[in-house]
Amino acid sequence: MERQIVPQGITSQDIVPQGIPITELEQSAFCTTEGNFRTRTLQEEFRTGVRWQRIPARYMRLSTDDIKIGIETAKEALGDDVLILGHHYQREDVIEHSDLQGDSFLLSKLASEKRAAKVIVFCGVHFMAETAEILSSSKQKVILPNMAAGCSMADMASAKQVEDAWDILKDKDVIPVTYMNSIAEIKALCGRNEGIVCTSSNAKEAFDYAYSKGKRILFIPDQHLGRNTALDYGILEEEMVLWDPYRPQAISDKDIELSKIILWKGHCSVHTRFSVNQVEEARAADPNVNILVHPECTNDVVSIADYVGSTEYIKNMVEKAPVGSSWAIGTEINLVKRLAHTYPEKNVFCLDEMICPCSTMYRVHPAYLLWVLEGLIAGIVINQIKVDDSVQLYSKIALERMLAL
Ligand code: 13P
Ligand code: SF4
Repeated sequence: MERQIVPQGITSQDIVPQGIPITELEQSAFCTTEGNFRTRTLQEEFRTGVRWQRIPARYMRLSTDDIKIGIETAKEALGDDVLILGHHYQREDVIEHSDLQGDSFLLSKLASEKRAAKVIVFCGVHFMAETAEILSSSKQKVILPNMAAGCSMADMASAKQVEDAWDILKDKDVIPVTYMNSIAEIKALCGRNEGIVCTSSNAKEAFDYAYSKGKRILFIPDQHLGRNTALDYGILEEEMVLWDPYRPQAISDKDIELSKIILWKGHCSVHTRFSVNQVEEARAADPNVNILVHPECTNDVVSIADYVGSTEYIKNMVEKAPVGSSWAIGTEINLVKRLAHTYPEKNVFCLDEMICPCSTMYRVHPAYLLWVLEGLIAGIVINQIKVDDSVQLYSKIALERMLAL
């Protein structure tokens, strides 16, 4: 008989009184100046003090070599019944065990297409696994190895805050567009109200869709992706307003009437670390360097970069770049390090000298992957992602609109 373990004690929406999600306060937990950061035992990594999901004691002290052998053995025993998906930001000791890798768009597409596996183990963060659950078949199960792997940006927009904003905005010819980095309830609100989901690889097309339906967009939760896409689209700064969920009264009806886009006040603290100064320093050191950044960076950085795109785009750009070319990259360090390692004949480095992994992505330590795989062998489904039926129905509508773009 298959049993389930329901995770306890972790909620991604813990907010401290000033409106700062706990995941945001924890974001710099793994930052280091050490050139070569490496996976340690879980026991050692627990000392960073961030919230981790509890795991049986035996996994705490396992060495990385023992974990690797354990995962390989478990994968062999489980065969094609289990598909492991890995986001590009996952650490190397996890990504090496993944069957397929991608950006959040590609992984959501794969989850909707790969119907043969009974279980999808999603090595990424909660909103990605939740999206995989919504798009996969009802017969498949989706597992997130560590339930504490949330996203600080997604935590900047709660369902209640977005519903409250929508109550004010819904009669003002607004179409809600949510970035994939948001909880399923927000995607469902978009599905119910002619809105759509987008990722960093299709935001412009999502704008085309939204402006064919209404006069203005409510863009949730990343103000930077929203602003960068809007500027690219020809929208002026003065046609944008910033929606602070803690001060909704700061925007008047007149401001909304004059706007083409209402940007939710959320951001990614990994990408907002990149600065104009870093770009200038990289160019001063090498005038031929290519600056390649993710669109979650602030517009002052994006506007002076040579190339801007999703994690899959970044990977493809470096892959097809000529031997000897130089690439200063503004995105999460695990992807940058992997590209530098995979293409030693190209000069690939991070714009930021400080090594700061996304602390929620990083919480998928390989011991968690081993734990959930060994659970499956024992007939226990650990950390299954579940979505309420009506949220599932409407969020799927918004996601399918995106997949049809
Ligand atoms: P991608 O869609 O580019 O993979 O980005 C996901 C993400 O969370 C970036 O911070
Ligand atoms: Fe969220 Fe930023 Fe981490 Fe991406 S890099 S998962 S947006 S916190």
